[in-house]
Amino acid sequence: MRAAVYERTGPAEAVLQVLDLPTPAPGPGEVLVRVHASGINPVDVKTRAGLRSTALPFPRITPHSDGAGVIEAVGDGIARSRCGERVWLYNAAWGRAAGTAAEYIALPATLAVPLPEHTDFFAGACLGIPALTAWQAVAVDGGVRDKTVLVAGGAGAVGHYAIQFARAAGARRVLASVSGPEKAALALAAGAEQALNYRTEDFAAQVLALTDGRGVDRIIEVDGKANIAQDAALVAAEGDVIVYGTGGAEVPVPFFPSVLKNLRYRFFIVFNLTPAARAAALADLTRQLLRGQLQHHPGPTFGLDDIAAAHRAVERGAVGNVVLKVR
Ligand SMILES: NC(=O)c1ccc[n+]([C@@H]2O[C@H](COP(=O)([O-])OP(=O)(O)OC[C@H]3O[C@@H](n4cnc5c(N)ncnc54)[C@H](OP(=O)(O)O)[C@@H]3O)[C@@H](O)[C@H]2O)c1
Repeated sequence: MRAAVYERTGPAEAVLQVLDLPTPAPGPGEVLVRVHASGINPVDVKTRAGLRSTALPFPRITPHSDGAGVIEAVGDGIARSRCGERVWLYNAAWGRAAGTAAEYIALPATLAVPLPEHTDFFAGACLGIPALTAWQAVAVDGGVRDKTVLVAGGAGAVGHYAIQFARAAGARRVLASVSGPEKAALALAAGAEQALNYRTEDFAAQVLALTDGRGVDRIIEVDGKANIAQDAALVAAEGDVIVYGTGGAEVPVPFFPSVLKNLRYRFFIVFNLTPAARAAALADLTRQLLRGQLQHHPGPTFGLDDIAAAHRAVERGAVGNVVLKVR
């Protein structure tokens, strides 16, 4: 099979290559999936670039945690009836050397979730990190029923789903921050009541005006480093700030506004959800997919051989999920 790999961290063009490798065999408890689409997320790109660590956990890595395809074979302990099943994949490159940027992947059967018939493989390849992160940011710590939510970066891969999940979970109001009109249109189409430009001077004043000076109950934050101080001013007493992303390693939380308002800060990483949260997320996501309720937002697509260009597109901040069309 053909698979993209890197053996050292560095710039995409310098370290990514596509090789012919043996097709893996599914081990006990595993499925073998013929990959149709491989979703690329910022974490895949940062890891390949060596932004977190230049030491590789494995001598050779096939990147990407997300993907979608069809089960072709199963290992011991897995029902043969799963062969032929359309699936979407999550956590495929988390603590594993072999991710989805390959024609085949063998992985634990629990990481291959049935993909409803009317959901295409490109959408399926956007679910693992973006949709599960958005779901958790909305559902964690009591959820958002009857609450006012501000989704920062509402046109981002995570933000776009977070708006939809907040609406589906019964939020009273959903506001979004964006950087311009194209992104505002995306956030509004996803269900935001207002999409406010966070780069304008009066962004904070607009949020406060829309909430009668009270602030929002929950902020779902894409860039903790840039926004955390302002978040403390825009969130209401007893509210919470759910930080899933940051533009830098330090997120300086302002103590006095936070303590005076009894604020709660929550950081999480989607790869490490508790089993209960994971099960709830998968069940609800499947329900919403079956109802055809979710808008997906696949972005530019590339072939497997163009994986370096695809990584560059993610680095440049492509709108929508960048996906490799593997088959
Ligand atoms: N903790 C986790 O498990 C987890 C899971 C998924 C993603 N993440 C992280 O979350 C971040 C976003 O991921 P993604 O896949 O959604 O990326 P994405 O598709 O590139 O979306 C990011 C969005 O945020 C906007 N944005 C950037 N800086 C902003 C700021 N200071 N304030 C408000 N909006 C801002 C961007 O648009 P503009 O630049 O035009 O504003 C873009 O629309 C990444 O850093 C990623 O590594 C973490």
